[in-house]
Amino acid sequence: METEVTLIEVAPRDGFQSVKEMITTSDKLAIIAALARAGLQHIEVGSFVSPKAIAQMADIAPVLQGVAQLPQSFECIVLVPNRRGAQLATEHVCQRLNFVFSASETHNLNNVNKTLSQSLAELRQVQSVVERSERLSLRVSLATSFDCPFSGKVNAQHTLALFQQVLDISPDAQLALCDTTGRAHPFAVRSLFERALALIAKPEQLIFHCHDTYGLAIANVAAAFEVGVRSFDTAVAGFGGCPFAPGASGNVATEDVVYFFESAGISTGVDSEKLKEAIALAEQIKGAQLGGSIRLLNRSKREASADA
Ligand code: COA
Ligand code: ZN
Repeated sequence: METEVTLIEVAPRDGFQSVKEMITTSDKLAIIAALARAGLQHIEVGSFVSPKAIAQMADIAPVLQGVAQLPQSFECIVLVPNRRGAQLATEHVCQRLNFVFSASETHNLNNVNKTLSQSLAELRQVQSVVERSERLSLRVSLATSFDCPFSGKVNAQHTLALFQQVLDISPDAQLALCDTTGRAHPFAVRSLFERALALIAKPEQLIFHCHDTYGLAIANVAAAFEVGVRSFDTAVAGFGGCPFAPGASGNVATEDVVYFFESAGISTGVDSEKLKEAIALAEQIKGAQLGGSIRLLNRSKREASADA
């Protein structure tokens, strides 16, 4: 079914990576399966990164094996920070690589131990891995597009110049502008996306990735939608944090974005009743930092009916 907006579920990567205690592969797969049953057609299931950087992602190979056995099909996305990650991904079943680097040089050094020009060189290599592969597509995520946890506000002109460099290397890739810290304001979101949309051929290439640290995520999603963005990263139960963005809270909650769009008559393709199963599983993960408004509302309703 054609939906009016596309939600890309990122809890199994952006959310899980912040949990210190190892989540078992079968618990990860149970949530991924529940998300697919709820209608999510694009799920970032993990990353090929150094286990020294993020131990939680060390089971990406068995996660991908498990995903291949699931009855529901969806676009399976894996994050890669370098060519090594892209090469590893070619040995497994997945459909899209999400190459990540940061607009902020300081954040990029902290997150992937590379300067911006080293990461652009890495992107060229990842692009050629994708070109050689018959089944892989590419997405590029520009972390800290608005704000950096270490060096503060990121200049929009600088972000757009990098955005253009990415387009020059990978003209057909999806491109995500990420509010990694959650400090972006709806006015800044509107302005940056308006300018980014003017640079790309196909608006459907553009994705907004946002965090809800200051409670502005839904307002930011609305601002991006109003200027023409139609794809959004979301995390069930607002699962989140970021090990390389101190203080940031989870991504905007999938169920909140579903509620926001569906209550305005805009289809997301996600069944909010079925999504409750994935929320319940997320609530059982030890050490998970959760957020979102709908989840808390449903919990109070459940508690009230149990008391009655
Ligand atoms: N997947 C798995 N292992 C990898 C890897 C990848 N994509 N890239 C490198 N490695 C391994 C190397 O083989 C090496 O292993 P060894 O010590 O056993 O020989 C080790 O990691 C270091 O490799 P090196 O190329 O020197 O990388 P680095 O130490 O400069 O770290 C990154 C660079 C990108 C690998 C690391 O910073 C990283 O994985 N960051 C991920 C950050 C992240 O996921 N952030 C959240 C998402 S925004
Ligand atoms: Zn994020």
